[in-house]
Order: sequence, then C-alpha cells, then structure tokens
Amino acid sequence: MRTTIAFDVYGTLVNPLAIAEQLKSLVGKVAEPFAELWRTKQLEYSFRRGLMRAYQPFSICTEQALLYAEKVKGVVLSGESRIHLMQQYKQLPPFPDVAPGLTSLKRDGYRLAAFSNGEADVVRAVLDHANLLPLFDDIVSADEIKTFKPDPAIYTHAARRFGQSVNNLWLVSSNPFDIIGAKIAGLRTAWIRRDPRTVFDPWGIEPDLLLSGLDQLASSMSK
Ligand code: 2OP
Repeated sequence: MRTTIAFDVYGTLVNPLAIAEQLKSLVGKVAEPFAELWRTKQLEYSFRRGLMRAYQPFSICTEQALLYAEKVKGVVLSGESRIHLMQQYKQLPPFPDVAPGLTSLKRDGYRLAAFSNGEADVVRAVLDHANLLPLFDDIVSADEIKTFKPDPAIYTHAARRFGQSVNNLWLVSSNPFDIIGAKIAGLRTAWIRRDPRTVFDPWGIEPDLLLSGLDQLASSMSK
C-alpha cells in the first residue's frame, strides 16, 4: 500500500500572513501586526473551542478572530470589507517550495492528503486557487469529527480515513503545535522551518525530520 503523507494547510502550504497585502489598503501601517494577531487569535479560538467542546467551524474562528483584531487595533471595517477579506483568505499564496516538493513526492509514488482544521470545501478552494489541488489525492478536515488539531482524536481519525496505522502516517507541518500534537498521537513528523529563527516549543518532543522547505522532503524520505 502506498504511504500517505498528510500536509497541514495554513502556514505550511499557503501563507496566512500574506493577507497583510490585502489589509494594507484597509488598515494602513498596522497591516502586518494585524495579520499576525488575526492568525494567532484564530488558532487560539480553535484550541479553546476544542478544549471546551464548543465546536464551531474554523471559518467562524477566523471571522471572530478578525473582529477581535479590529477591536485591538482600533479599526472598524465595513461588512463588505470583512466579506472581501474572508474571500481573500481562500486565495492565500502558496510558499514557493510547495509545488516542486509535492510534485517530487507524487512522482515517487506517495499518496498526498491535505489535513487541516479548515472545512474541506474551504481547503479545496484554497488549494484550487493555489494550483495545488490536482496534486492531492484526498482532503481530511477536522470538521469531520468536530474538533481541532492538536486533539489526538483528529490525528487518529486521519489515520483511519487513510487506512493506515498512526505510526505509518507522516504529518508535514510548519506549525510546532501540529508537530507535537501528531507526535503525541504516534505519527511520524516533518517540521518545515522556512525561517531559521522560528522557535520550536521546548517540550522535549522533537520532529522526526527538520527541513527548510517542502522541496527537501522527497530526498529525505528516501534516505
Ligand atoms: C491547519 O491548516 C490551522 O494551520 C492549521 O490545520
């Protein structure tokens, strides 16, 4: 059976902080810190909802985090601007190493799956816009079991969906919380650290592979 590699989406395949480009005309100089706060709060909301068993789809976490960021930055966006930004969030740019990396893995016979906290239809739209959709065999969303990564249940669910044991499933992510979550659930992991300054949480849990780009993955997997 072909080995499946599961890829985190936001931050790993596409860049959520690139939304700062769209924010510039709306919030001016604070576009970058606004985008960072929006992303941080989006994740926090999903983690809290997961813990509280008060699930709402990831898009709702994203929308509510946008409202939070507006309040913190003292900005009031129009309803139209918010809808526009949420639309743009489905058009985030892929990192340049992603398409070459996925193409090599596909050539080597791996089964590739997108594995995200985002809803499947949203993830499909994101991958389609980034011209990555044809490279994927499957999409697994946390929405299928109404919880969020890093709940161990979602990693186990993904393994079941792929018909693989957890210890044969690879998770590739740029997000340390995701790598640690996957390791705790028993998966094998590759951490993509594009920026060498990114700090990994010092929990005594390490990724199996540490790579500077997704284009390094195919050669590392064959070693
Ligand atoms: C994901 O795509 C939230 O980045 C995370 O699942």
